[in-house]
Amino acid sequence: MIPPPPMELIQRRTSRSDSAAPAGHKVMALLSLVRIFGFSLFQSLASADGGVLGEARVAKRCYCDLQLSDGPFPHLQLEQLYRVSENCSQRLNVPRFKEPVDEIVQLEQKLKSLAERINEFEEEYDGELYSIISFRIIEIEIAELTDMLNQVQEKCSRNQDDITDVDMQAQNITSKVNELEKYDRLKIVREHRRNNILKRSLSSCKSALFVTPTPYVTPQSGSCSFGRLKAVSYPKSSMLNHFGTSYSYGSWGKDPLPAPGKEDLYWLVIMFSSNRFGSKIRVYNSYSKFLIKGTFVDMTFKTYNVQGSGGTMYGDAYYYNCYNLGKLCRFDMTTHEVIHVTLPFAGFNDKFPYCTLSACYLYTDMDLATDENGLWVLYATEFNFGNLVVSRLNETDLSVLESWNTTLYKRSATNAFLVCGVVYATRYLSPEIEEIFYMFDTTSGVERNDLSIQFRKILPGIQYMNYNPRDRKLYVYSDAYIVSYSLIFFE
Ligand SMILES: *[C@@H]1O[C@H](CO)[C@@H](O)[C@H](O)[C@H]1NC(C)=O
Ligand SMILES: *[C@@H]1O[C@H](CO)[C@@H](O)[C@H](O)[C@H]1NC(C)=O
Ligand SMILES: *[C@@H]1O[C@H](CO)[C@@H](O)[C@H](O)[C@H]1NC(C)=O
Ligand SMILES: *[C@@H]1O[C@H](CO)[C@@H](O)[C@H](O)[C@H]1NC(C)=O
Repeated sequence: MIPPPPMELIQRRTSRSDSAAPAGHKVMALLSLVRIFGFSLFQSLASADGGVLGEARVAKRCYCDLQLSDGPFPHLQLEQLYRVSENCSQRLNVPRFKEPVDEIVQLEQKLKSLAERINEFEEEYDGELYSIISFRIIEIEIAELTDMLNQVQEKCSRNQDDITDVDMQAQNITSKVNELEKYDRLKIVREHRRNNILKRSLSSCKSALFVTPTPYVTPQSGSCSFGRLKAVSYPKSSMLNHFGTSYSYGSWGKDPLPAPGKEDLYWLVIMFSSNRFGSKIRVYNSYSKFLIKGTFVDMTFKTYNVQGSGGTMYGDAYYYNCYNLGKLCRFDMTTHEVIHVTLPFAGFNDKFPYCTLSACYLYTDMDLATDENGLWVLYATEFNFGNLVVSRLNETDLSVLESWNTTLYKRSATNAFLVCGVVYATRYLSPEIEEIFYMFDTTSGVERNDLSIQFRKILPGIQYMNYNPRDRKLYVYSDAYIVSYSLIFFE
């Protein structure tokens, strides 16, 4: 008579749950959704994990006993058992069983970071002002998690048949081990099993703690002593631009070198026709006015209008590519005077724009940039074969102070910005993800195109991107949405 298997070896296989609830429009709904996800995740983890680890337990137990038993212990039976359990572990060790486990770990990480961001969102949530911020990105995340969860469940259920088979084998082994235990005078088999059960719960506990959040390094303000770029945060804020969805090209931000009294001023320049032409700059004197689309001031560029979404604000002036010319313009925010200077050899009028694989961003030939060192322009020349050229500018008279030729073909990047004299360029990976893949250090001349700093987008397109050294944020204009990110640096 074979005794029934002990309770701890009976493996639960259920991983189904009705967790694909739609994303609600209330924070509380989001939180309860996370709880449902969390629960079903736990279930899936228990089932996938149980199958893989069950084998280790059996195999180890058998091996030990062979070494230490004596007297009338049935060696032959044990050896046979060992062979069967080995066969069993081989069958369990195939990649398709491991795959869902990896995915579950990933899913768990994503859930954790989502939960953190929902907490942040809740803290910032004040009823109306911030209600739009960060919300869309959370919605996208939840949709993505639901998708992932469905995939994992599908895989798990495909493995179900194999698991049932292996499970039966494992139960057979368990019964036989129980039988053999009767001969185990030194209680070695039993103790060994206890140890393994302990080990197992320890290791599943560990894998639950596997997620280690990246430590946030606060860089020294106003200095370049902090290291290379490590990561880009999730979007810290996002909202539709103030003129509506039809304006998919524009630029916005905050002056990194503001005139006294204008420290909290936010600016916005929209391309009003053909995604090419801008005629005015709109300013809000505080972030809350900017958010609620409150009182603003419009200033028009009387002589030289704006071409493209590459312009930026620095030291109380707006710098941009003058309309239909190979020139840079500087619009003084106080006097409203415009000066214009030819940027030597620079391609313009869509000669060297930024591009994705399938399309280009119109009139992005000259991209103004700011960093700790001042004002820069990113462009391309025929001399440099259409590759990116970076020049530091004298912000008073727009003359070029220094220039570097890079080997990055400008059309192979979707945008670029500078931090501490280092150029970073991005490329399009998917509608949701953009990647910083390239850097050029103007101080050392070091150039690399193997970076992989990915960050999440709200919409697929990136028409404008600039770093503000004062608040160390990245300001982005993305298919009519205005978005900001924090940057994280190596220590
Ligand atoms: C061992 O596993 C293989 C499949 O990997 C199976 O065909 C075979 O029957 C198994 N042998 C025993 C003794 O269970
Ligand atoms: C389990 O044991 C029974 C009887 O000992 C045997 O008929 C059956 O084939 C075994 N199943 C597996 C999966 O090894
Ligand atoms: C960039 O390349 C052009 C063409 O070869 C050359 O004339 C220019 O001097 C180079 N600039 C720098 C800073 O090396
Ligand atoms: C920038 O240009 C102004 C006006 O031409 C000049 O006075 C100043 O010295 C220049 N600054 C630098 C750093 O070259």
